[in-house]
Amino acid sequence: MFTDLISPPPAAGADALERFRRLLHTAWVDGSFVRLLLSRPVGGEPGLERVTVRELLLRGERHLSFLWRHATRDVTKNLPPDEALARIAALLGAEFQHAHLQTRTHEIQLSFSRKGKPSLRVGKLPPGGAAEAGPPAHDKAKHRDLSLQSPFWTDLGLTHAVKGELQLVPAMARKWKQINRFIEVLGAALKGSPLADSAEVHVTDFGSGKGYLTFAMHDWLTRLGRGAQVTGVELRQDMVRLCGEAAARHGLAGLRFEQGDVRQYTTARLDVMIALHACDTATDHAIHLGLRAGASIIMCSPCCHKQIRPQMQTPPLLRPLLQHGIHLGQEAEMVTDSLRALLLEAQGYETQVFEFVALEHTSKNKMILAVKKTGAALAAARQRRPELLAQLDQVKHFYGIREQCLETLIQQDPALAQAR
Ligand SMILES: C[S@@+](CC[C@H](N)C(=O)[O-])C[C@H]1O[C@@H](n2cnc3c(N)ncnc32)[C@H](O)[C@@H]1O
Repeated sequence: MFTDLISPPPAAGADALERFRRLLHTAWVDGSFVRLLLSRPVGGEPGLERVTVRELLLRGERHLSFLWRHATRDVTKNLPPDEALARIAALLGAEFQHAHLQTRTHEIQLSFSRKGKPSLRVGKLPPGGAAEAGPPAHDKAKHRDLSLQSPFWTDLGLTHAVKGELQLVPAMARKWKQINRFIEVLGAALKGSPLADSAEVHVTDFGSGKGYLTFAMHDWLTRLGRGAQVTGVELRQDMVRLCGEAAARHGLAGLRFEQGDVRQYTTARLDVMIALHACDTATDHAIHLGLRAGASIIMCSPCCHKQIRPQMQTPPLLRPLLQHGIHLGQEAEMVTDSLRALLLEAQGYETQVFEFVALEHTSKNKMILAVKKTGAALAAARQRRPELLAQLDQVKHFYGIREQCLETLIQQDPALAQAR
């Protein structure tokens, strides 16, 4: 039994590496295996960053699919189970110093110290927090992730042909990472949202810029077999033209770009509101439009938090900390995004704030993810509203903040203001 291996008697003697191998083997055999991630590469192929291993069905047989992620390319290899498990065992500690095994019920992490000593950490997932196990059909798995081979990426300057093969332009590696993570986070959020079974999904990307994320959303939803209606809204006409022409050239039905200002924009149906690095209070306006449209998912990675910092008065206790400009900037950012998160919670959204990519890929690596609650959870959230808004007022009072853009927009919007 898997659980017997999770907490073996201390005298069981198996070291961390051996226990990890057995847990992996058992998770595979009992069908609870979800995913394995190997990271912290050592001395292997240059440019190799990590390997993700997932299950898939090939001609009705369970296999393991390895995605070898390099800085500028991805390589996929599908192996039968025995060969795959042997391959993983050989990589542990030799080519990767960290392994993260996710099962339906547990998260298991194996780490090697500098001296090569393995240690194991096992965490139980909360009920309902477990990811899906079981093999996806091959085609489904294949079409789940973004592909650098999609020809429109070249029009956007993300890929170029090298010896007849489309490869990532090295300077775009960080942007590629960001959009992949955005999609990954959205994929998980969709499953737990009212959109889980929706045949058609309407997405608006505010401040779409060169359209990387907009194209990615459309491509990914289409590959999932969802009817994708994706709109990029962007202030700059030149970018709107560039993206619109690329979408038309590749016959991407359901993908459109509009020149518009998020501060004046109106939208009919909006299921998923996204904004990746929309400048300053453009993020607040985008969130407001999402709330107004009753979007099921609101996800944004804010950028240049300018509104709050000049208003902030340093509370005496924090003066030694915030006398340093860098700390004051970080504090202003944290306060801004915390107020946004409180407002989203108060509007009945399950809200999380987290780093969605490592700092090395962008300094603007924070994400606010809000998923609309339904049923009893929504009713409970409504009850908590006064408490959340009181917290918001206290934070504003503590820092002497007079105005936060999203709060003002909500207060001025009769449909949302009742929530206050
Ligand atoms: C930092 S760029 C991010 C572009 C894109 N989302 C990405 O991550 O690649 C911010 C974009 O937001 C646009 N923008 C800024 N204010 C806006 C507004 N009020 N309405 C619409 N777009 C806006 C800018 O023109 C710019 O293209």
